[in-house]
Amino acid sequence: MKKIAVTASLPGGAVDKLKEKFCIKTFKQKKCLNESELLKVLKDADGAITLLGDPLTKNVLEKTKLQIISNYAVGYNNIDIGFATEKGIAVTNTPDVLTDATADLTFALILSVARRIVESDHFTRKGKFKGWLPELMLGVDLRGKTLGIIGMGRIGKAVARRAIPFGMKIVYTKRKRLIESEENSLKATFLTLDELLKVSDIVTLHCPLTKDTEGLIGRERIFSMKKGSILINTSRGKVVDEDALCDALKTHLFGAGLDVYEKEPIVNNRLLKMKNVVLLPHIGSAGRDTREEMAEIAVSNIIAFFEGRVPPDLIPEQKGMTLFRGQK
Ligand code: DGY
Repeated sequence: MKKIAVTASLPGGAVDKLKEKFCIKTFKQKKCLNESELLKVLKDADGAITLLGDPLTKNVLEKTKLQIISNYAVGYNNIDIGFATEKGIAVTNTPDVLTDATADLTFALILSVARRIVESDHFTRKGKFKGWLPELMLGVDLRGKTLGIIGMGRIGKAVARRAIPFGMKIVYTKRKRLIESEENSLKATFLTLDELLKVSDIVTLHCPLTKDTEGLIGRERIFSMKKGSILINTSRGKVVDEDALCDALKTHLFGAGLDVYEKEPIVNNRLLKMKNVVLLPHIGSAGRDTREEMAEIAVSNIIAFFEGRVPPDLIPEQKGMTLFRGQK
């Protein structure tokens, strides 16, 4: 019987479906695993369902006999894809299913920062609300403002669709420009990254973390954003230079909403002290239905693989690959 390691318990009953056909070991991780902890978890496993914080580095992978990694996330920057592919290890993710949940959370952050929701909540709880005042907690209106979307994939488009009824203008940047009919239906105008940063009142990041996007929003780019604008990040922390962001939050930006961090799960101490940031613990996809569906997808990829099929959610870098390590 093939052994499957599940590196954390997942919501819903999907993992139970594996129990008839596989020997399952579920670990109860409550924090991110380091390489040596992960190696213990993956010992003897033929397949694994892993989390986005599990470091599946070359060092880890070369000590395992994994045939498939079914990553419980849409992002898979935690995996050394080049090495996994070289070794014939199949890698799958959970695209599509978390698009709406992540777009909803992005919008929640936009509104929270723009209308100072968290700050107002703290103010009220502290007994500071002494009566309605014309200038109390003034924030940013969304109507008529420009939303700059960096990375117009599934999630970026879902954010654009939410911005339309708020009366926002939408500009976007993407490696490959959308076709005209799609731009028209999203009412979105294509700009270069540097143009987008200059004109947007709110900038929201939806690109994956790759060699090209690491540090993409560096100091110069942050300070090239419009004075009084807002930065939202629900993609990956390493896309943004966090130290430069902290400097900009003091003098240049209205605020920021972050679900992800440069050194996740460590949150920059300077951010923790700032009132104009809303900080979340990477909960972009954390709707119950969404997380249960993600588990179903992760499980179905494992089943397909060990039934000798190409798993349905093979990552784009491995599309077309048919020969996997040890697959019958
Ligand atoms: C993902 O799946 O990559 C998201 O970051 C989870 O919230």
